[in-house]
Amino acid sequence: MSEVHVIEHPLIQHKLTHIRDKSTGSKMFRELVEEVSTLLAYEVTRDLPLCDVEVETPVTKTESQVIAGKKLGIVPILRAGLGMVDGILKLIPAAKVGHVGLYRDPDTLEPVEYYCKMPADIENRELLVVDPMLATGGSAEAGIQFVKDRGGKNIKFVCLIAAPEGVERLQEAHPDVDIYTPAIDEKLNDHAYIVPGLGDAGDRLYGTK
Ligand code: URA
Repeated sequence: MSEVHVIEHPLIQHKLTHIRDKSTGSKMFRELVEEVSTLLAYEVTRDLPLCDVEVETPVTKTESQVIAGKKLGIVPILRAGLGMVDGILKLIPAAKVGHVGLYRDPDTLEPVEYYCKMPADIENRELLVVDPMLATGGSAEAGIQFVKDRGGKNIKFVCLIAAPEGVERLQEAHPDVDIYTPAIDEKLNDHAYIVPGLGDAGDRLYGTK
């Protein structure tokens, strides 16, 4: 069974409260999502392996450490996942970015793929699949499956808010994929929105309705 990492850092929780607030406009919402994504990337990359190197400071030669050649990839689930990419790239600028395009069928609420483009060497990368809202888990389950179908192996899922229903579904479907989230909210409502949540993440990021 995969692990669920609830990231309770005070800065993340503070910013998430403003993200939730319905009076926060799109510009601020986008900026806050980017900032929280940067902070989440810091937590998610905690276990990256290090190796020793020699470095010469202005004073002397010394042994120090760098990340051990691990290549990373970021895979936003379109469209709301795009809002998290720049924040993560701030910390990991060499990461490659793949895209999975899914929309939720309004009648069945199930995901339908309309776009998928991955980095060529996807099987050698540690992959962060990102989507702000883990609601029913349908998009995350399908998005991660598309990534696996194209060779992705080492995958983490990163979101801003999760519903218990989505966590359960994702853990069942992909027991090898750890989940990183600052919040697990109460439930889903009848329209599959997270309660209390933040509303529609895509609409709030891009000012649509
Ligand atoms: N997608 C959203 O943007 N918000 C939700 O609450 C659920 C799914």
